[in-house]
Amino acid sequence: MAVRVIIGTQWGDEGKGKITDYYAEKADVIVRFQGGNNAGHTIIFQNPATGKTEKFKLHVIPSGILHLGKKAVIGNGVVVDPGKLLEETEGLKEAGYGTDNLYISDRANITMPYHLIIDALEDKMKGKLGAGTTQRGIGPTYTDKAARYGIRFSDILDRGVLKEKLDLIVPYKQKYLKLFDSGESLSKQELFYSMIEYGNKLRNYITDTSKLICNEIKKGKEVLLEGAQGTHLDVDHGIYPYTTSSNTVAGNAATGSGIGPTMIDEVIGVVKAYTTRVGGGPVPTELEDETGNYLLDKGKEYGATTGRARRCGWLDMVMVRYSARVNGLTGIVITKLDVLGGLERLKAAVSYDYNGERIMDFPANMRILAECTPVYKEFPGWPDYSEEQWGEIVREGIGSLPKELKTYVRFISKEINTPIKLLSVGPVRHQTIEVKDGRV
Ligand code: IMP
Repeated sequence: MAVRVIIGTQWGDEGKGKITDYYAEKADVIVRFQGGNNAGHTIIFQNPATGKTEKFKLHVIPSGILHLGKKAVIGNGVVVDPGKLLEETEGLKEAGYGTDNLYISDRANITMPYHLIIDALEDKMKGKLGAGTTQRGIGPTYTDKAARYGIRFSDILDRGVLKEKLDLIVPYKQKYLKLFDSGESLSKQELFYSMIEYGNKLRNYITDTSKLICNEIKKGKEVLLEGAQGTHLDVDHGIYPYTTSSNTVAGNAATGSGIGPTMIDEVIGVVKAYTTRVGGGPVPTELEDETGNYLLDKGKEYGATTGRARRCGWLDMVMVRYSARVNGLTGIVITKLDVLGGLERLKAAVSYDYNGERIMDFPANMRILAECTPVYKEFPGWPDYSEEQWGEIVREGIGSLPKELKTYVRFISKEINTPIKLLSVGPVRHQTIEVKDGRV
């Protein structure tokens, strides 16, 4: 029995989808606790009914939905666009998966149509200070939650409460939209009836998910708390303001799912073997050269939600060290090691140089960060193995890994004094090497 949190240690897109799916196999309950449909988890899944390998892109529903007999929970800390959620449930049903095992917190906030409009207008207005958002209305939904203008799932089941809230909110939003001269206008009636309809369609999923999760924990069930985005997109700990609007770190796994922090047993950080970033802001180890293009192409580094090309660079251990600290990692999974294959030499940043000063800790000031140059440690690379060759390595186990790869992953683990749990060498679940005692 364990309550386990999975967190991205970089800028999201570390391959958490695959790793969550890997751990989901052992878990009874899988919970999303923050973010919304700005996330995109690609899961390559073997359908137990047909034996066929299928590819799924899930944005807000936890990956546990694909597993029969497991509970998939959208916790109170998540923000949900109900139209998009219904598209996902319909897509799953069409593919032959049931959704009776989906539960949505009655306290989760709803992304309203005006949040999408405001997200686009505000991000544009911010210019260079904009995070380059996914335009899914995430920021404005969290803004309203904190300002107590939010509409929660319990509200769309209650016509009286919904009406009272919309009477207050809609005129205020109208005035706000006028500031942008965008010509957008809102209809209170349309908003009311569409939300009531969503409430009717989603009614059976909406419940007190905190109670559900705590009861499962009491019964000794295994719970997986699935983080979205990454530590450096956290609204407190990321490169502010180039962040998302939620806390993506492990601490929020408790708040966002309604369990106590003392109930969490393990915090697993997913570390991509190199760095990628979608959106604006400084990326100290970014490679705007042939190697960057090599990683982009070979790693298929395009955003799962927006399709944008990701900015690629060397591994940055200043970032990962910071993540290990603020998440209290108990173990790591290193992903995409196969993508680095074929590069003669690899680099990883161990510190930054800021005007001749050596910086070991990730700075809060984005101007300082933008002026930092990485201080690298170099490593010899390993061959560009074919899928079959990686398959053989996985079958034979750790002993058959190239020594250069072992040196690289040992370095990562040692730098943050955290044991390795898994090594991932391909996108499919079985392309994974389990590391029994944390050592390679
Ligand atoms: P928002 O979350 O849509 O507000 O976007 C804020 C920033 O977070 C932008 O730079 C996005 O590109 C980034 N972002 C949001 N979600 C993800 C994700 O799941 N993976 C990677 N980056 C993300």
